[in-house]
Amino acid sequence: MRLLVTGGAGFIGANFVHSTVAEHPEDTVTVLDSLTYAGSAEALAPLGDAATLVVGDITDAPLVDELVAGADAVVHFAAETHVDNSLADPSAFVTSNLVGTFTVLEAVRRRGVRLHHVSTDEVYGDLPLEDPTVRFTADTPYNPSSPYAATKAGSDLLVRAWVRSYGVAATLSNCSNNFGPYQHVEKFIPRQITNLLTGRRAKLYGTGANVRDWIHVADHNTAVRAILAGGRVGQTYLIGADCQRSNLDVLRTLLGIMGRDPDDFDHVSDRAGHDLRYAIDPTALRDELGWAPVHTDFAAALAATVHWYRDNEAWWAPLKDAVEAGYAKRGQ
Ligand code: NAD
Ligand code: TYD
Repeated sequence: MRLLVTGGAGFIGANFVHSTVAEHPEDTVTVLDSLTYAGSAEALAPLGDAATLVVGDITDAPLVDELVAGADAVVHFAAETHVDNSLADPSAFVTSNLVGTFTVLEAVRRRGVRLHHVSTDEVYGDLPLEDPTVRFTADTPYNPSSPYAATKAGSDLLVRAWVRSYGVAATLSNCSNNFGPYQHVEKFIPRQITNLLTGRRAKLYGTGANVRDWIHVADHNTAVRAILAGGRVGQTYLIGADCQRSNLDVLRTLLGIMGRDPDDFDHVSDRAGHDLRYAIDPTALRDELGWAPVHTDFAAALAATVHWYRDNEAWWAPLKDAVEAGYAKRGQ
């Protein structure tokens, strides 16, 4: 397959490109990425010429059309992705997530190319904390809380409409919170790891009771690959690894791995409109496509992630001070 991977210089996209090059040498991979603050050409550098990086924007219709014309399938990761940034300034989220996805859809429609659209469980809003057995399914109504979630929800609805109205051959997936190598240091887990590695303190929003459902990025990407290969057009697949943890629990696990006292962190200002709990019911994906996660020992996967950040300081250190200066301005 000739794959066009949008956002392939970001966290999940770069991991997808790495695993594709390693496990599917029969594929050719072209990455379209505008290298925003979250994009990293360095993340692709170890691959040499096994993947081609085109630096450009998904809202650039002629460029997107040209690249889509040379592809058999598009895997669409590119988006603005950080909730806190969307609260501070939502404009780039509207442009990249909505206009960008529209531009990709128009190109695959014109060229008759298969699309997989990568989305998030945040489109469903949040769940109450009390009963962990209540989880999102593909039938859960959309109810996004943040500008990030609202623009991802809008992008999903565009994809569904292009399938129904124009017969575009697209699948969708909504995944829970990812962690692993190459995640930007603005996000929860890498922020805490790199705070501790740079002599800063870990920072917990509010009480830390909020629950996220964690999945290793490699497991997310095997699911994307399974959907690309065997998913039904028009279908939405929910991806999750049955790993609900409170933020406090995750932080204490990390502190333990890094040899710190369990109370060695600061409580900081809570996020506005902070979603309480996300949780995915992945039964449909497992039953239909036979997918299963393999990184299911959360503490071991976290320890491996800590190890990766220790070993790859040259990748994240140049980003760290500016990110922390931004958080400090917001009292976080
Ligand atoms: P990321 O922020 O690390 O990377 C996003 C990439 O997209 C960057 O390389 C950036 O340069 C690129 N990009 C942004 N706007 C662009 C534009 N207009 N044109 C071209 N490139 C552009 O994000 P991520 O965590 O890797 O997330 C990838 C996708 O997965 C997103 O669609 C996100 O909504 C979804 N997702 C993420 C998670 C998670 O936990 N990180 C969970 C579920 C779904
Ligand atoms: P984040 O990684 O931003 O992902 P999302 O908001 O998409 O779930 O945050 C994960 C959780 O961690 C979320 O409940 C907010 C919380 N959080 C902190 O407690 N401290 C932090 O420094 C950050 C960045 C997030």
